[in-house]
Amino acid sequence: MTQLKEYVKNEKEVKIVSKVRADYVKKYANFLIESGNIIDGAIVVDVPCGTGDMAKAISEKIAVDKFALIDLNKNMIDSAKKKIKNNATFIVGDAGDIGTLIDFRADTIICLNGFHQYISRQHGFLDGCGKHLKRKGRLIFDVSTRGLHDEYTKNLFHNWQWNVIALSKEYGIKAQLPVWPDKDILEKYRNMLSNNGLRVIAEKEFISYKTTVEVLSDAIIIPGRSRPWIPGLGYGKRKEILEKSMENSIEKLGKHKIEHNRIFFIAERIPDMYKTS
Ligand SMILES: C[S@@+](CC[C@H](N)C(=O)[O-])C[C@H]1O[C@@H](n2cnc3c(N)ncnc32)[C@H](O)[C@@H]1O
Repeated sequence: MTQLKEYVKNEKEVKIVSKVRADYVKKYANFLIESGNIIDGAIVVDVPCGTGDMAKAISEKIAVDKFALIDLNKNMIDSAKKKIKNNATFIVGDAGDIGTLIDFRADTIICLNGFHQYISRQHGFLDGCGKHLKRKGRLIFDVSTRGLHDEYTKNLFHNWQWNVIALSKEYGIKAQLPVWPDKDILEKYRNMLSNNGLRVIAEKEFISYKTTVEVLSDAIIIPGRSRPWIPGLGYGKRKEILEKSMENSIEKLGKHKIEHNRIFFIAERIPDMYKTS
């Protein structure tokens, strides 16, 4: 948990994240507005809000009545406060506690790049969302993964993980790269939604292809991203291990395009689950 709180440590790191996330915000803001049914006067929760850039982009397009921004990391909340000045509430808190962190009903809850990797109490989160959504309110979360349909990508990440573990061992460190969701994990999420008072009304997958250089840069550019993967080593050493291990994997498996999948789950509250308006 401490490591997650340290995803960014200071304003300089917040700025790096903001820059890295710019393309994502540009690419998906309209999609979220449309599929989240975000219209003028809406009450919207963004958790984890990160730097606040997506909420800012949405507020610039739609006259949202109220935005609640929640994140575990105070640096992120401080950043979000600078970006959204009106009609917003800012909460430093764990997404798993959403049931008690807010005391109003929302039209839309967005959970971007957080659900799979960052929220450990997923049931608590989904249950809280179900309770706080208005009737016909929507929860949207995305899951980012690699190689859902491509064997080379799957093998490369498997081999990379193995190499990172081996190289980290030389420093006496137990490394662990993220588990990228496969079809079974995605199915588990569908079931979790329905077990927590929500039903999936749509899913949308976006597929893109990256080079190994881009994949490495994604892993390295935000220092806080790799901090929990190779705990106990400084940024420079972690970077070295990530690069060297990727080199080894390419040597073994060749260098091809990497498939990147992003799946958005769009869910509504099951009407009779909670006796509210
Ligand atoms: C990859 S960022 C995603 C942020 C933002 N939604 C975006 O798309 O840029 C992950 C964020 O989750 C926050 N976080 C991690 N665990 C959390 C938790 N349990 N509850 C709330 N926020 C959490 C981190 O502080 C970080 O800001």
